[in-house]
This record gives sequence, structure tokens and C-alpha cells, in this order.
Amino acid sequence: MNESVTPKSFTPFDRPVRAAFIGLGRVYDLNVRGYLDNDDVEVVAIVDPSDERRAQRQREWPDARAFRSIDELAASGVQLDAAEILLPIALHEEGVVQCLTSGWHVNLQKPMANDVASAHRMLDTARENNRQLRVMENYLFYEPLRRLKEVVDSGTLGTISGYHLKMVASGRGGWEVPGDTYQRQFEQAQRGRGTLLFDDGWHKLSTAVWLFGPIKEVRAWIGATEIVPGIEVDAPTTVAWEHVNGVRGVWDITLAVDMYLRSDYYTNDERWEVTGRRGFARVNRCTGRGIQQPSFEIYLDGETRAFHALDDDWASSFRDSGRHWLRWLHRGEGQLLWGAEEAIEVLRVALAAYGSSSRGGVGVDPRSLA
Ligand SMILES: NC(=O)c1ccc[n+]([C@@H]2O[C@H](COP(=O)([O-])OP(=O)(O)OC[C@H]3O[C@@H](n4cnc5c(N)ncnc54)[C@H](O)[C@@H]3O)[C@@H](O)[C@H]2O)c1
Repeated sequence: MNESVTPKSFTPFDRPVRAAFIGLGRVYDLNVRGYLDNDDVEVVAIVDPSDERRAQRQREWPDARAFRSIDELAASGVQLDAAEILLPIALHEEGVVQCLTSGWHVNLQKPMANDVASAHRMLDTARENNRQLRVMENYLFYEPLRRLKEVVDSGTLGTISGYHLKMVASGRGGWEVPGDTYQRQFEQAQRGRGTLLFDDGWHKLSTAVWLFGPIKEVRAWIGATEIVPGIEVDAPTTVAWEHVNGVRGVWDITLAVDMYLRSDYYTNDERWEVTGRRGFARVNRCTGRGIQQPSFEIYLDGETRAFHALDDDWASSFRDSGRHWLRWLHRGEGQLLWGAEEAIEVLRVALAAYGSSSRGGVGVDPRSLA
């Protein structure tokens, strides 16, 4: 798999990167962690049409200029190197194209786009303007998942036989999600891009591709549950797939509307369990705190080893993903993790799930999608 879209001419900055936040809503509280106390960056602008959100975020960046739109920022004469785009999904393409053509590198929140054509337009614009387009995937920076990948790659479990992912969305607990954020998620659902499979689920598909490489066949059975009159959530849902290397994965998405889940963030109870010929390894939680035993365990030859001292606060994955990007721009260290090509691969897997489900669960090759 290609790891980045690095134009050949890209040279790291020899000074802190001048950055802007574009979109100051709920996820800003997580993405900002990569920028705080970071010598690789100077935040010079914040952008949001909401007066309230600009005022709220200005307290963190008193020296940054505040704008209502990307157009205002572009016309302002503020010197900028990179944009952190935290916009609603339906605005990703427009915002990304505006930033890239203004000459700024972009770190974009997932899901990259609602369809492949839109994603390709963004990638083409990045290439034409010789700018970097990164689609951030904070789960690749979550320490228990990094440990899982290390164990899988090390061969400790023997040849991998298969794996499963579990995700339970609960209706009680966690932090407050503003009404307008929910409203945008419901609009996405009405476009056929559900919150659980497509939005939050993006991360699970990313980890699948990251752990085991390209996927050649997807089979899905996508359900719906009405939670209030006229509003449905895309569960129960089951998705199964086979990677090019022959490893199979299965993922169940369940809704537990009345269940209280302890969480500092969203109420999402998640697990990853990879089974090899000799044993298994399991990540017990991520966003929420459902299972409160150590977040990572390995079972091998009749013994369990549990890891008690990992940084398993989900928010740390945003901090580390953001720092990685800014260090990468400033000093050119390591891989991009991830570029637009990898995000398009994830998008294809999600769209293959929709294609499969609409045809009664037939196998769909993500690469066959137009
Ligand atoms: N990585 C993760 O785990 C994770 C978690 C939550 C959300 N997200 C993603 O982050 C993105 C944003 O999600 P959110 O929950 O913060 O949404 P949100 O609705 O809370 O925030 C979006 C913000 O963008 C602002 N906005 C709208 N139009 C704008 C424009 N033209 N220019 C500038 N700002 C504009 C809104 O006023 C709002 O403040 C989405 O892509 C979402 O899927 C990722």
C-alpha cells in the first residue's frame, strides 16, 4: 500500500508550521490536543461561521485571527502553511479544495468524502497544487491498537486465522454532543451514510486495512433502528470481509439505546480480537470504558498477559496523530499516516458494504467500484 501522496518536491519547513483550525465544533476539543504545547506549530487563525464557537476557541489562541469563512481567511493576507479541517462531512470537498488551491497543506478529519469521485477530486487538487492532503486516522495512534499491530506483525500469535471487531453504541453516558452536530449526522444518515457504519465505523475499517492490508471482498447486512420518530440509526449491522492475504474479518455493530456506558467522550464500546494459530490478542476498549480490565491482552499457550500501563486514554490518539502530522511537516520525519490514497481505500470498503447489503449480502470487491 502507498503510504503517502508526498509530492517529490515537498521539503519540510525549517520553522514552526503556521496553522489554522477550520471548523470549531465538537471534535475540535480532541484535535486541539496535538497543537497545545507544541513547538512545531504556531496557530495563526481560527475559522467558523458561529460567533459563539469563535469566541469560545479564541480563549485558547488569543493571538490567532478569527474568521467566519475560508474565503475571509484567504483574503486576509494571513500567512498560512497548513489547515486543520474539522468541517461537517458534506463540506469536506469544498473546504479541502479551497485550502489546497490557496496553497495550504491539509489535515482532514475522516470520513474523507461520501463518494469516490469527490475523494478523487480532492486528491487531484492536492497533486495539481503540489500540496499534502492527509486524512487523519487517530486510531492508528491509539497505543493499545499499536501494540496489537506489533504483536500481529511479530508472528507471536502464529499465522493469523481471523479476527473480529465489536462496536456497541449506547444512548446514555459520555460527553455532551451539541444538537447541531447531531443534526448534521442525521442529514448524513438521510444521504445513506449512517453514523455507525460510515462515520464512526470508518475507524474500524481503517484499522482492518492497516492491520491486514487490502480487502478483496466485502459482505454486509445493514439494519436500521428508529430511535425517535423519523430518525434511524444504522444498527443492527454485520459486515464480513476477506483481505487479499486470505485473512477474514467480521464486525458487528449493535445499538443499546438504554445502556449507560462510562465514557469521557462518545459512548462507544469497542473491541478488536485477533486470533492466530497459537493464541489471540485483544484490545478491550477504546473510546468508552466498558471493560475496565487492562486495555490490551495476549493469550498464548494457556497463559494471559495483560498490559496495565498503556496510555489508553482515547484522546491521546488525537494528540499523537496531530503531533505526528505537525512534526512531519516541520521536520519531515517518518510516514504521513495516512494520505488520501489510503483513505480512498477505506472509503471503497465502506461503499462495498452498502453495495453488498443492497443486493442481499453478495460479495463485493471494493476495487470494482467506479
Ligand atoms: N476522529 C474521530 O474520532 C472523530 C470524532 C468526531 C467527529 N469526527 C469528524 O470530524 C468532523 C467534524 O465533526 P464535529 O463532530 O466536530 O462536527 P460539528 O458539527 O460539531 O462541528 C463542525 C463545525 O464546523 C463549523 N462550520 C460549518 N460550516 C463551516 C464553514 N463553511 N467554514 C468553517 N466552519 C464551518 C460549524 O459551525 C461547527 O462549529 C466530521 O468529519 C466528523 O466525522 C471525527
